[in-house]
Amino acid sequence: MRQVTPQEALSRKYPEWIVLVVSCAANGQVNVMPAGWSMVCSAKPPLYAVSVSPKRFTHKAILDSRAFVIAAPGPDMGEAVWYTGNHSGYDGDKMPASGLKTRPGTATPVPLIEGAVFNLECRLVQQVETGDHTVFVGEIVAAHVDDSVEGRLMNFGDGIYGLAQLVESTRYEAK
Ligand SMILES: Cc1cc2nc3c(=O)[nH]c(=O)nc-3n(C[C@H](O)[C@H](O)[C@H](O)COP(=O)(O)O)c2cc1C
Repeated sequence: MRQVTPQEALSRKYPEWIVLVVSCAANGQVNVMPAGWSMVCSAKPPLYAVSVSPKRFTHKAILDSRAFVIAAPGPDMGEAVWYTGNHSGYDGDKMPASGLKTRPGTATPVPLIEGAVFNLECRLVQQVETGDHTVFVGEIVAAHVDDSVEGRLMNFGDGIYGLAQLVESTRYEAK
């Protein structure tokens, strides 16, 4: 074992789960950005946390509507992830060019992403300043799944890949 920088150790954490963070600004502009830094952080109540830089349009839009949607991209959403991850809502509405389709949610003003594995409608309940990011914690107030979508999009560090099924590997059973 050798001691390294935090960055070098963390470069080995991949594959990483990617989510799409959907938000809606005060002027009605709907926005999507991919995030790798997110997690479930409570079961009762169901809470989801996502880490967003204050530089992002998403940061402003979440504070505007105090709500966000977490959508899990299917394996064919790679182009949309790259597009929304390399353009900012501050430069205009990126939804038309993203290829993503939305539909109204049922519990918040933030729309859902069509064809995502799941959509979690979250109401903002807490925010924590964490160095150069803000962790937004949302209570999941409605959830939706699309049973026709198989697999997930994952970030492997050297690029994002659509996984249609789990890679064959050793399975460890509880003893
Ligand atoms: C795979 C991937 C993961 C990302 N993860 C995060 C993240 O966890 N937090 C964050 O603030 N930005 C993250 N980004 C960067 C934002 O998605 C990117 O800056 C985006 O253009 C911001 O859009 P916005 O300004 O419209 O909100 C990620 C980008 C990619 C491509």
